Amino acid sequence: MKKILFTILLSSITTVSLAKELDQARFDQGKAVYDKVCTVCHNYLPPPKNAPPIFGISTHYHQAFADGDKAIAHIIDYLKKPAANKSMLPPMATQRWGLMVPPPLSDEELRAVAYWVWEVYHVECARTPNLGFCRH
Ligand code: HEC
Repeated sequence: MKKILFTILLSSITTVSLAKELDQARFDQGKAVYDKVCTVCHNYLPPPKNAPPIFGISTHYHQAFADGDKAIAHIIDYLKKPAANKSMLPPMATQRWGLMVPPPLSDEELRAVAYWVWEVYHVECARTPNLGFCRH
């Protein structure tokens, strides 16, 4: 019985870690795009520059989407063609900051940076779980 329980425990741990396995190369590529392009307007954490901080944006996306692939697809679509009715931020964000201007990036860069915006939440919350935002 103990052995069965142990096996179940082990396999569930493996499933969880597989589901959350990070594509480190893509994550790093996305971070590099962020550093080069997005930091002109976005800080990572408050206080904001002239756009909402990215960690808050990532949190809103984790509240709006359960499925990472759908969230990343939405971010890519938004970056290509920002529109108020597609925004996942509270309406005051576009009112306060105005609509984002689409950054001139290749599809590969867009995929990487959208992946980074989504995954940075997991990475951050694994590092500092009591950050307050880390409930999703
Ligand atoms: C010229 C300034 C500027 C740059 C550069 C910029 N952004 Fe933004 N971004 C904004 C502003 C302003 C908003 C808030 C209004 C909005 O959501 O459109 C925003 C909002 C967002 C949102 C939230 C979209 C939503 O659902 O409303 C995401 C995601 C985002 N930016 C990602 C990025 C990424 C990734 C980069 C770099 C590739 C980037 N931004 C570069 C100004 C900028």
